Amino acid sequence: MNGTLSDQPLARDLERVLLSEETIRARVREMGARIDASYGPGEEPLLVGILKGACVFLSDLLRAIPRHVALDFISTSSYGAGVRSSGQVRLLKDLDKPVEGRHILLVEDIIDSGLTMSYLKRMLLARRPASIRIATLLDKPSRRKQPLTPDYVGFEIDDLFVVGYGLDFDERYRNLPVIGVLKPACYQKMGEEAPRAGEPRNLDDKGETC
Ligand code: IMP
Ligand code: MG
Repeated sequence: MNGTLSDQPLARDLERVLLSEETIRARVREMGARIDASYGPGEEPLLVGILKGACVFLSDLLRAIPRHVALDFISTSSYGAGVRSSGQVRLLKDLDKPVEGRHILLVEDIIDSGLTMSYLKRMLLARRPASIRIATLLDKPSRRKQPLTPDYVGFEIDDLFVVGYGLDFDERYRNLPVIGVLKPACYQKMGEEAPRAGEPRNLDDKGETC
């Protein structure tokens, strides 16, 4: 772990770091350059962030694309508080504006079963955009239930549940600057009574905050 990370109490809950801040930063820069190069002169893609997980990735990716872009957000839900999808996608927040004739770039934190993205792609295609492409920071191709190939992938990962850089477990850990795997004890402590504000629960001798 690097210096910055050891200052992060939440990092003590990680069993291991999969992707460091530097690794993520370099890859997001490359993705931005590739995305920029793949649109024609004068084309202004509409970046659609899938809330909430994609917000950290989107805010970095946005600044790595050196052309005019527009921004909108969509929110879906398919997960309860656990680590497995319920298999059902619900639209919680739609786009603010019509997208007919626009070049849509869907921006996602991670593609797992592919259900969320397949649902969104189908829904948005019906609105007759000029194009739809998908950029995802992480991809777990081994878990696909729906065939779906993203256009831009940051990192392919194994079938692991990961947190950090926008990705959550039960709404926590989105603010970790790295991506990693939680200690098993931190998954198991789910369902316990929430600690009082600012008070860590079950702090053991390694100082976990979970
Ligand atoms: P899909 O519909 O199964 O592809 O699920 C995609 C969504 O599930 C992502 O946008 C994430 O919000 C969530 N998800 C899938 N895998 C993980 C993970 O490893 N950590 C955190 N969230 C995940
Ligand atoms: Mg998500």
